[in-house]
Amino acid sequence: MLDNYLVGDVILFSIGEAVLSLREEIETFALKMLSRPGQTSDFRRRIVAEAGIGPDTRVIDVATAVGGMAFAAAEKSHSVTAIDTSEERIKIAKADPRANNIGFRVMDAANTDFQDKAFDMALVVLGLHEMTTPGAKAALKEARRIAKKLVVVEFGLDKWPLFWSFFRYALALLEPPGFLKFTRHNIAGLIEEAGWKIDQEHAKFPFVTYVCT
Ligand SMILES: C[S@@+](CC[C@H](N)C(=O)[O-])C[C@H]1O[C@@H](n2cnc3c(N)ncnc32)[C@H](O)[C@@H]1O
Repeated sequence: MLDNYLVGDVILFSIGEAVLSLREEIETFALKMLSRPGQTSDFRRRIVAEAGIGPDTRVIDVATAVGGMAFAAAEKSHSVTAIDTSEERIKIAKADPRANNIGFRVMDAANTDFQDKAFDMALVVLGLHEMTTPGAKAALKEARRIAKKLVVVEFGLDKWPLFWSFFRYALALLEPPGFLKFTRHNIAGLIEEAGWKIDQEHAKFPFVTYVCT
């Protein structure tokens, strides 16, 4: 009887792992499509402009995935570092012809080895909702330690509550565990709790950009 339970647990665990890894593969594919050379989207260009990135701005792109935002930032700045916990995605980013002058590293946003205020600007573009709520809080605090300014782009959960109250369930099928819990939080509140002051908010459906000091 015990063995049957054990076998059941192992099967359920394996199915869970397979679903998670399939989810990651799908997302990696989509991110690669969105980060192709010559494909710097208006979405990314607008974030770079809203952030006010110039040639001397030392930028860290947090949760860079396959590097899309880092490549867009590097079109303006000659000092770009980018981190992600996914070894596979950092490997893809490093293999990109645009990666030459960008320091890609596998690293947890909540626990980096950079010095205090090593960067003028931290970008976190659609990264927080994949970190779980405690992870996002810790990453925002760590960003406060290592960067002078912060630009967060996230789902505008409180700007378009009706849309998000439905769509978040569909999206949860593609997002990591902890996503639905994260969507119950007020993102501006999380940013401020970490000690940041939100100076500007730009809302463009379905996202919001927060520019913070
Ligand atoms: C939707 S992707 C980010 C997209 C990317 N910023 C872009 O603009 O294309 C979210 C990323 O967050 C990364 N991530 C999740 N938790 C993290 C953490 N604690 N530290 C660093 N990266 C993390 C995941 O590995 C994933 O690649």
